[in-house]
Amino acid sequence: MKADKFILALESSCDDTSAAIVSLDYRVVSQLTSSQPQHDNFGGVLPELASRLHMRNMMQLTEKVMLRADLSFPDLAAVAVSINPGLIGSLIVGLAFAKSLSWSISIPLITINHMLGHVFANHLSHQHIAPPYLALVVSGGHTELVLFESDIKFTQVGKTLDDAAGETFDKAAKMLHLGYPGGPLIDKLAASGDSGFYNFPLALRSKDNYNFSYSGLKTAILQYCANQSASFISRHKADLAASIQTAIITPLVNKTIRYARLNNIKTILMAGGVAANSMLRESMLKEAAAIHVNVLFPPMELCMDNAAMVGAAAVPKFEQGLFADLAVNAFSTKGLRFV
Ligand code: KG4
Ligand code: ZN
Repeated sequence: MKADKFILALESSCDDTSAAIVSLDYRVVSQLTSSQPQHDNFGGVLPELASRLHMRNMMQLTEKVMLRADLSFPDLAAVAVSINPGLIGSLIVGLAFAKSLSWSISIPLITINHMLGHVFANHLSHQHIAPPYLALVVSGGHTELVLFESDIKFTQVGKTLDDAAGETFDKAAKMLHLGYPGGPLIDKLAASGDSGFYNFPLALRSKDNYNFSYSGLKTAILQYCANQSASFISRHKADLAASIQTAIITPLVNKTIRYARLNNIKTILMAGGVAANSMLRESMLKEAAAIHVNVLFPPMELCMDNAAMVGAAAVPKFEQGLFADLAVNAFSTKGLRFV
């Protein structure tokens, strides 16, 4: 096994610190992720606290994943780290750590866009994904449809004009008093609800483009809840969860399938936290099968933020010698891009 070379991958863009060892043939050799429950009392992630906790966790996690993989520093081919998008302080902690390691043990530094990492989570469980492929990237902060001509050449073909799909799940759950993060809670509740209970609006339905919009839906949910009693909402929370889930997921499925059909795309990759959603998985598989398109999802545990996906996105960059200079900076601008 040691004849192979390995990438040490690091992820610290939000509130999860993660380190992983990934082989150049997309195997996760070891991975450890540490979440930060310290934010729970604040009703959201406290950026300064997140950075400090990343500093505390990064070294320990790196030592442990190396130990678990039975590797030492000379076995590493490169160190990869996400540098965008995310909380700037959190990104800087990961990047500074990766730079020091790159310099001190003389291995190349590979910088990765976190959203590209989400797409490459698919490569860890599906070998030989041949481009072109279409990626639907759906997370807490992003909703993008991206066409990959090759593993390193891609173009955005659609995006949300306002809120992201995951953000809409989270805000809707808050309005229904369900808790955070809202996606998994709505997903679970929806399983026992009636999706036809209320027809929330489907945004940009008839528009001839591949953009999404969720701010109108958010307002519609807010108005609906304001006009009902608390006991009505509590009694029908499963029905409302199912109706809201349908309004969020339907445009994602329809527009992705339409693009694939009209542009003769044969492979769709699902990426990001919302790719864990049961309705999205089921309906995308069903609609794609009808037009003979293959849909790939990462395994559940790799849908959420993790370092293995960063390592996977680093493989093609490693193969092409696309290394970063030590003067590189982290930045927080949204979007799937080449960094
Ligand atoms: O990709 P991710 O872990 O973090 C970001 O980079 O944003 O995505 C987190 C988002 C949250 O908005 C969460 O509510 C949503 O993914 N999510 C889900 C499900 N699991 C997580 N949304 C719908 N259904 C799920 N099962
Ligand atoms: Zn993410």
